Amino acid sequence: MTTGTWARRHLLSMAELTRADIEEILDVTDTMVEVSTRSIPKVAALRGRTVVSLFYEDSTRTRLSFDTAAKRLSADTMSFAVSSSSVNKGESVRDTIETIEAMGIDAVVVRHRSAGVPAQIASWTDAVVVNAGDGWHQHPTQALLDSYTIRRHRGSLDGMHIGIVGDVKHSRVARSDIEAFTALGAMVTIVAPPTLLPPTLRPWDVTVSHDLDDVIATLDVCYLLRMQRERMTEALVPSMREYTACFGLTPERADRLPADALIMHPGPMNRGVEIAGEVVDRPGVVVTEQVANGVAVRMAVLFLLLGPGRAALPDGGEIA
Ligand code: CP
Repeated sequence: MTTGTWARRHLLSMAELTRADIEEILDVTDTMVEVSTRSIPKVAALRGRTVVSLFYEDSTRTRLSFDTAAKRLSADTMSFAVSSSSVNKGESVRDTIETIEAMGIDAVVVRHRSAGVPAQIASWTDAVVVNAGDGWHQHPTQALLDSYTIRRHRGSLDGMHIGIVGDVKHSRVARSDIEAFTALGAMVTIVAPPTLLPPTLRPWDVTVSHDLDDVIATLDVCYLLRMQRERMTEALVPSMREYTACFGLTPERADRLPADALIMHPGPMNRGVEIAGEVVDRPGVVVTEQVANGVAVRMAVLFLLLGPGRAALPDGGEIA
């Protein structure tokens, strides 16, 4: 097992993790996958700890998988539904955190539409803070589960050619994935029209293509991003039909991928936009595996941040 140097106070961004840190989390995820396959998929590691989910933005996968992960580790959970909370009466994020903290919590899993809110919360609370997505900025556990999914299939990301296709400009998933994939030794090509690229690509070590047809036959992984229409304040593509014609994974394009290529998407998918409905059921599509691995990755993150430490996981041993 690799040993990282991660301070393990919070998880706010992929930028705070070295390659060794990422590999350590993925190694612990292997243990959590084993736990998840047991007839009773539950261990006592976080008994007596309380994890609160604070989602100011919609979520299906991330919110439910963090909740499931905490329960599988025997933590108590609190779920905060913004739509029925005192946020609607004008309560600030800081007052909300202080209110929840007064009830006794150990970790806050937070999603917010504004970049930097999880880091701000981390400066206000003694609890561990895990970023579950902040604006266009970061979604670190998505990058960890994506990296884990590729590693399960290929053993390693070293030398893999990964195409990240679509709306990079508005995508926290793209930002976190690029940092994770390149840290793990993959070559990343961003495939997007110029209007869907961020103003600068520094400091990423990536290649850019504006033509999916140019690169598709060379990809080990074709990672499709969701067109984030809710974040677009202007028309950045002529029409969705034209976007799909140039950048969508149609059956014809999927036929040109190498036979063993993986097709990935963070969800929720816009079928018929970034991926054709007929492609979704092909063997190389690992979208549901990504979701399943998300539970184990989040168990590993909560375990490392809140648990008794990696020393409690003997190499090759079982967690009880
Ligand atoms: N991938 C992802 O973050 O999905 P949710 O928005 O459903 O959590």
